[in-house]
Amino acid sequence: MTFISDIINRNVQEAQVSAIKEMAMLSANIPGCASLAWGLPSFQTPPYIRQGIKDILDTDPQAGKYSLPDGLPELRRQVVKTHQQKTGIIVDADKHVMISAGNMQALNTLFHTMLDADDEIILTDPCFASHLQQIKLFRGVAVFWALNEAHGWSLDIEKLPSLITAKTQAIVLVSPSNPTGKIFTKEELLQVGQIARAHNIFVIIDDPYSDFLYENRPQYFNLASVESLRDHVVYLYSFSKAYAMSGWRLSYMIMPEELKQEAIKVHDATMICAARISQLAALIALQNESDHKQEFEKILASRRHLIVQRLNNVPSVFECQTPEGAYYVFPRIVAEHKSSRDFSMQLLYNANVSLTPGSAFGPSGEHHVRMAYCVDEETINLAFDRIERYFL
Ligand SMILES: Cc1ncc(COP(=O)(O)O)c(C=O)c1O
Repeated sequence: MTFISDIINRNVQEAQVSAIKEMAMLSANIPGCASLAWGLPSFQTPPYIRQGIKDILDTDPQAGKYSLPDGLPELRRQVVKTHQQKTGIIVDADKHVMISAGNMQALNTLFHTMLDADDEIILTDPCFASHLQQIKLFRGVAVFWALNEAHGWSLDIEKLPSLITAKTQAIVLVSPSNPTGKIFTKEELLQVGQIARAHNIFVIIDDPYSDFLYENRPQYFNLASVESLRDHVVYLYSFSKAYAMSGWRLSYMIMPEELKQEAIKVHDATMICAARISQLAALIALQNESDHKQEFEKILASRRHLIVQRLNNVPSVFECQTPEGAYYVFPRIVAEHKSSRDFSMQLLYNANVSLTPGSAFGPSGEHHVRMAYCVDEETINLAFDRIERYFL
C-alpha cells in the first residue's frame, strides 16, 4: 500500500476493468491467440465516410474546433430527420438531441446526471458488463432483473414491478442484446414502458445493434417509437457498429427536454463536446444512402451460421441457443468446469483461445461464455479447431 491507494476514489477502487477488456488485454500478449472476446467488428469505416472526411480536412477551416456541448446544430437537425424516419417521432434538435462520444459516454453522462449515492438502476441479467462498472463509479446500485433463459433469454415482465423502489431511476435495455443476441418482443417492451411510466422512471435504450437483425427483422420493435412514452424513454444510438466507427467515438441521444438541460451540464464539464471531426463523419454517414449495413449484416449472418454450426459440433462442451440479432452468442458450458472465469482462463492459456466469461455479465451469466462472431471466419474456425483439439 502506498499513499496513492489512500488518494484513489473509493468508487474507482471498487470498480474493475470489464472482463471483456481484461481478456482482450491478456490475449494481446499471447502470440497467435484466436480471440472471440471483444465485439470489435472486422469491418473498415465505409469509403464514403472516409473520403468525405478527407475532403473536409482539406477544405473546412472549422474542422479542428470545438462544437457546442450538445453537438453541431447541423448534425442534430439531421438526427431529427433520421429519428423520424426510424421511429415516426418528431423531436426538436435543440430541446431533445444531444451528440455524445459513443454510447458508453452517453450512459456515463446519464448515470452522472441521474444517480445520487445508493440510487438504483435496473439491468437485465445478463447485461452489458460495462453498465455495471459505470453504475459503481457513481456509487449507484445495479439491481439485476434475471432474464428467462429457458425462453431464449426473454424478459420476465411479472418480476419487474417488485424490483422497483423509491430509489429506482431507470431500467436499461439493449435489444438485440449483448451478450445473448435476444430481440425483446414488442409486447414485452410496451409493458416495460407502461410500468416505467406508472412509476415515473426512465427506460434507457442502449442501441448499438438494431441494424443487425438477420431474418428476425420483423420481430424488432423500437420503444422510442411510442408517442406516449416520450417523457420516459431515453434513446441512445451508436455509430460504432453499424457504421464500423468504433474508434471515432460517436453516438446520439434523444431525451426529454428537462433531462437534456441537466445532462448538458455534465457534458460541458467533463468533455466539452464530442470530437467535431467525428460529428462531421456522422453527418456524412446519415446524409448519404449506402448499402454497407446490408453488406455487414449479410457477412455477419454467414458468420453466425458458422459459429452456431461449430458450437453444435461440440455438444459435450457447449449448449447453444441461436442468437436472434447483434453478433454475440452466449452458450452454456456443459463441459466440466469450476466457473466461467476459470474455464475461460484455461482455454486462454492451454488452447490459445480467448472468450469472455459469462459471469462478467451478471449472476445469470455464470456457467456461460460470450463469443463475438464479428471477427473473420478464419478466426472463428481457428478458435473452434483449437477448442475441439483441447476437449475432444
Ligand atoms: C450494449 C453496448 N453498449 C455500448 C457499447 C459501446 O458503444 P460505443 O462504442 O458507442 O461507446 C457496446 C459495445 O460493445 C455495447 O455492446
